[in-house]
Amino acid sequence: MTINIERGTAVTGRANLLVIPVFGGKTFTLKSIKGIPDDTFDRFLVLAERAEFAGKMDETVYLQLPVGRNADGILVIGLGEKGRDTAGVVREITGTACSFARRGGMKSVALVLPKELAKTNVIEAIATAVHLGEYSFDLYKKEPSKKHLDSFSIVVEDRKQLLAFRKVVEQAETVCDGVTVARDLVNTPAQEMTPTHLAEAALEIAKVSGELITVKILNEKECKALGMGAYLAVAQGSDEAPKFIHLIYTSPRPSKKTIAVVGKGITFDSGGLSLKPADGMMTMKCDMAGAAAVLGFFATLARIKPRVNIHGVIAATENMPSGKAIRPGDIVKSMNGKTVEILNTDAEGRLVLADSMTYIQREAKLDAMVDLATLTGACVVALGEEVAGAMGNDKKLMKEILQSADTTGERTWELPLIERYSSLMKSDLADLKNISSTRYGGCLTAGSFLAEFVENTPWVHWDIAGPAFAEKPLSSYLGKGGTGFGVRTLVEWVREM
Ligand code: BES
Ligand code: ZN
Ligand code: ZN
Repeated sequence: MTINIERGTAVTGRANLLVIPVFGGKTFTLKSIKGIPDDTFDRFLVLAERAEFAGKMDETVYLQLPVGRNADGILVIGLGEKGRDTAGVVREITGTACSFARRGGMKSVALVLPKELAKTNVIEAIATAVHLGEYSFDLYKKEPSKKHLDSFSIVVEDRKQLLAFRKVVEQAETVCDGVTVARDLVNTPAQEMTPTHLAEAALEIAKVSGELITVKILNEKECKALGMGAYLAVAQGSDEAPKFIHLIYTSPRPSKKTIAVVGKGITFDSGGLSLKPADGMMTMKCDMAGAAAVLGFFATLARIKPRVNIHGVIAATENMPSGKAIRPGDIVKSMNGKTVEILNTDAEGRLVLADSMTYIQREAKLDAMVDLATLTGACVVALGEEVAGAMGNDKKLMKEILQSADTTGERTWELPLIERYSSLMKSDLADLKNISSTRYGGCLTAGSFLAEFVENTPWVHWDIAGPAFAEKPLSSYLGKGGTGFGVRTLVEWVREM
């Protein structure tokens, strides 16, 4: 799949499908739509009037062209009123146009960019939606699950911008490659995607990145020596060896800042002895989506070369029931010395994250720490399947993350960290317990638990349980399964540093 930037117009663009985006709104008239050949314009008007086409966002009219033209057909597609979140709208309509072409077995698409949309953020949005829309996970299928496009051209009028736009397309490709890494990791069944396999994926990313990225893998014994009692409590029920993964990206340019991204890496969450019901377990291979986002993010770094030193941390393990598994009521000691009474073995994410965060704060002086975790069903109840929750202790860092998420369209909403809710996580027997005294506000109390392991570091906890794994498509360009949620926002964030 290649994306080209071409100079030209609707008349010169060559493709199976020519896409003409048009704004709707008050000044909209069908007659003002440009790019339809004169001899077919009357036909177009009939079709568009019949469909009551008004340029609303994602509205379409398809016009078949006579044989021998520059395209087999034209898809006029609405952008809605001017002035809305342009990048978001463009991603959406690009996804729609590509799906339309794929469904019809078309191989090439050319999108004629309106003059007022000839901006780098729009080009990036188009390229991103094209790439993400092309994704499919066919490793276990005899026949591919969908048809693919060969090429997508963005047709612009002005020659001056060609070079800059081509560079943007290249960058979008790099980022989407990272998203693909994350999606593949999430979609791969847990039977294969073990902690060992995750560690190997990290080593592979470092290998292809040259000397900019190094990886350390700690085994169970080494984690024990460091006192990671919370992490190892989760791991003890599984026959799969736990692997603690620590990646380090060192900026090739001098950098004053050091940050850490921490991913929840439960390769399968059965719930442990507090076993999940069958329905709740079906998608639990996705419980390493935070880890996958960290790895997808690292896969882009050697090409993006951000000016900041970055640590990636993943305490990978399965959460399984067995004769060796942790029991409800057991008390464990975490790496920072706090003891935790484990009352529900299904609240395992916060345990592995606690030790991951303590570890990295002891290893490095951090200017920021972000954890990504499919942490609570409660977050999905609160915000739905398309929106992630974010909590934190630092206004500036929160603003950076929310702004980056807004730019990429990875919808994120801030939730509060409340002092009083910390008391809901206090245990009668230990310093903390891993579930709250109430069943309400489960996303917030999980955040409060994690806050107990933050040591004067600006921190954002990002609960991605909803959007990390799509049971129905998240948008026109993000289909079912692992979405790679988080990768694009992390890249956007460090790019701005
Ligand atoms: N991995 C789950 C959370 C989850 C739910 C992720 C749905 C993705 C989709 C997590 O480990 C979990 O089971 N959390 C429990 C916590 C509870 C026992 C306090 C939950 O949300 O029910
Ligand atoms: Zn769980
Ligand atoms: Zn979990």
